[in-house]
Amino acid sequence: MDGGIAAVALGGAGLLAGSLTATFGRDELPANAAGPSPVPTGSGSPSAGAGASAGSAVSVPAASVPVGGSAKVKDPATGDALYVVQPKAGQYCAFSSICTHSGCAVDAPKDNQMYCPCHGSRFDATTGAVLNGPATKPLAKFAVTRKGDQLELGAQQKA
Ligand code: FES
Repeated sequence: MDGGIAAVALGGAGLLAGSLTATFGRDELPANAAGPSPVPTGSGSPSAGAGASAGSAVSVPAASVPVGGSAKVKDPATGDALYVVQPKAGQYCAFSSICTHSGCAVDAPKDNQMYCPCHGSRFDATTGAVLNGPATKPLAKFAVTRKGDQLELGAQQKA
């Protein structure tokens, strides 16, 4: 009597395991097929391809950079902080936070200026130009492009 019950139980377990395997097998196929498809979605855009080759896909919501305001992002190449600014409506760029005097971190833009607390240099937060030494070189400037409601960090521009 007991042996019969055990056999039935085992048989049931076998059937259950078989049906689970079949179910998983069927479910995994569509999941695997759907998995890779979101990855190449950017392939249709030539600019997305250029960005990918540069290795910098840093973006920030445009709403976080009002005219006269700024947003802090990380330079993917160096890890240093950059400030994305909008000096005039629709005109965006970014400046390195690294002071060109001795490499201290400048403060966030305020009143269209960026101040270095180490030795007092001041930079124009619309151009990066030196307003007050001891620094003699402008802050490194980066292109910023608006794409929809996002601002994308571009390449460093020549002074
Ligand atoms: Fe900025 Fe000296 S490091 S003023």
